[in-house]
Amino acid sequence: EQIKKGNYDHFMQKEIHEQPHSLTTTMRGRLKDNSVVLGGLKEHLKTIRHSRRIIFIGCGTSYNAALAARPLFEELSGIPVTMELASDLQDRQGPIYREDTAVFVSQSGETADTLLALEYAFANGALCVGVTNTVGSTIARKTHCGIHINAGCEIGVASTKAYTSQIVAMAMMALAIGADRISTQARRQSIVDDLSNLPNKVSEVLKLDGEMRDLAESLIDTQSLLVFGRGYNYATALEGALKVKEVALMHSEGMLAGEMKHGPLALVDETLPIIVIATRDACFSKQQSVIQQLHARKGRLIIMCSEGDASSVRPVESCKVIEVPRVADCLQPVINVIPLQLLAYHLTVLRGFDVDQPRNLAKSVTTQ
Ligand code: G6P
Repeated sequence: EQIKKGNYDHFMQKEIHEQPHSLTTTMRGRLKDNSVVLGGLKEHLKTIRHSRRIIFIGCGTSYNAALAARPLFEELSGIPVTMELASDLQDRQGPIYREDTAVFVSQSGETADTLLALEYAFANGALCVGVTNTVGSTIARKTHCGIHINAGCEIGVASTKAYTSQIVAMAMMALAIGADRISTQARRQSIVDDLSNLPNKVSEVLKLDGEMRDLAESLIDTQSLLVFGRGYNYATALEGALKVKEVALMHSEGMLAGEMKHGPLALVDETLPIIVIATRDACFSKQQSVIQQLHARKGRLIIMCSEGDASSVRPVESCKVIEVPRVADCLQPVINVIPLQLLAYHLTVLRGFDVDQPRNLAKSVTTQ
C-alpha cells in the first residue's frame, strides 16, 4: 500500500496532488484543432442538440461536479438544464420524457441510486448518457453513449481528482454540443485555450498547500464552517463543505450566497468561520457586497479571490485571503476547489481522523 502512495502519507493527499496529471489524461486526444472530439458521443450529438431538456443526475461529489458544469451547458447549448439528486428523482418519480437527455454522472459507475435512476429514465425513453471514471462499469454499459473521464483509479473515499476531471469532461461535452453555433465560436475558442493551460494553473494553485495547512491549524477547534459561493462557484461551496464534512468530521455547509439574507445571515457572529468565494466573474461585484454585509455583522471571514485582488476584496487588513490563479470563468471551479480539498485534508490530519476511510462512509454505495 505504501508503494502505491508513493511519497505521500495518504491516498487523498496523493490524488489531490495528482490533478495536473489526471486533468491532462482527461483531455488527452480530445482537444483537436481548437475543437473538441469525444468519440463516445459523436453519433448522438444531433439527438442531444434537439432534446427539450438536459437532466443531470448523480449523488454526492458527482452531483456537485454536474452543478459546476451546468451554467456552461446552458450557455453553449441553449437547452434548459435541470439537476437531480438520484435518490430524490426516485422518491418523486419525477417526469422524464423521450425528448429528454439524461446525463448520469458517477465516478464508480456503480452507485445504486444513480443506477436505479438510469433504469427509470431509460424505461421512459430518454437518451441516457454516462459520465464515469470506470470503464466497463454498470452505468457505462447501460447508457446509450457517454464519456470516460480517464482520471485514473481513485482510492481515497473522498473524491478529489475525479471531481475536477468530471467538470473538465462535462465542459468538453458542452463545447461539443455547442460546436454548431457560430455565435459562440470566440467564446468556445477561449475556453479550449484555457483548457490546454489548465494543468499548469492547477500546479500553481497546489502551491497553496502550506498556506492551507496553516489555515487548517487556525480552524482545528471550530464547531462549524460555512462556505458561500454563487454562479459557477455555487458548486465549489457545496463541494468544499462536503469534503470538510466527509473527512474532517466537522459540521460544514455550502450555501448559495444569493440566499444569504434569507436565513444564513442569522448565524453570523465573531466565531463562526465563513469562506466566501469571490474570484473574478460576472458575480464578482455581488460577492463584494456579500463580503461587506458579512463584515458589517462582524463575520469571521476567509476570502478566496483571484490573484492580485486581495486589496479589493478585503474589508480589513487582518482578513484572511486566499489568492488563486485566474482561468476562464467556467473553468474556475476546477481551480477554486483545490485549496478547499487541501484544507479538508489538513484539517483531518490535524484532528487525528482517518483520511482515506472516513467513518461510516464507503467509496461506492451499491445498496439503496
Ligand atoms: C459515495 C462516496 C462519495 C461519492 C458518491 C457518489 O457517497 O462516498 O464520495 O461522491 O458516493 O459516487 P459515484 O461513484 O457515483 O460518483
